[in-house]
Amino acid sequence: MKVLSINGQSHQVDVPDDMPLLWVLRDVLGMTGTKFGCGIAQCGACTVHLAGQPVRSCLLPVSAIGARQVTTIEAVGQTPNGHKIQQAWLDKEVVQCGYCQSGQIMSATALLNQTPHPTDADIDAAMSGNICRCGTYVRIREAIHAAASV
Ligand code: FES
Ligand code: FES
Repeated sequence: MKVLSINGQSHQVDVPDDMPLLWVLRDVLGMTGTKFGCGIAQCGACTVHLAGQPVRSCLLPVSAIGARQVTTIEAVGQTPNGHKIQQAWLDKEVVQCGYCQSGQIMSATALLNQTPHPTDADIDAAMSGNICRCGTYVRIREAIHAAASV
């Protein structure tokens, strides 16, 4: 049995050590906001925060988490920058199909937490691991700038 701290709550889970966090979130805890895309840490759809840092949950074994706090898309809107990012996403109508957007929002929020006023180059560097098949990159950049200006 493992105890995970997710979105400010403790969860006891009985899972193998090598189960990726993404599987625990979606299949064990029913938190389906975090998406499965590639499963090989290449697309960013599964991005969550681990101790405030963006990580790919599809390859993160649950045994590596320990006592560190996990934040997912279900709760990132309760943080100041997560709220600003989500509002900017709505204002700029970023989303198309939406599949990649949980991961995009988690990476964008982590960027603002580290760099409150990012340049285009900062945004491109921070977001380069999040793939969007609908090509929403231009609006993502606009929305991050808008959130940073609030
Ligand atoms: S599903 Fe994790 S990076 Fe693609
Ligand atoms: S909005 Fe469709 S994949 Fe990004």
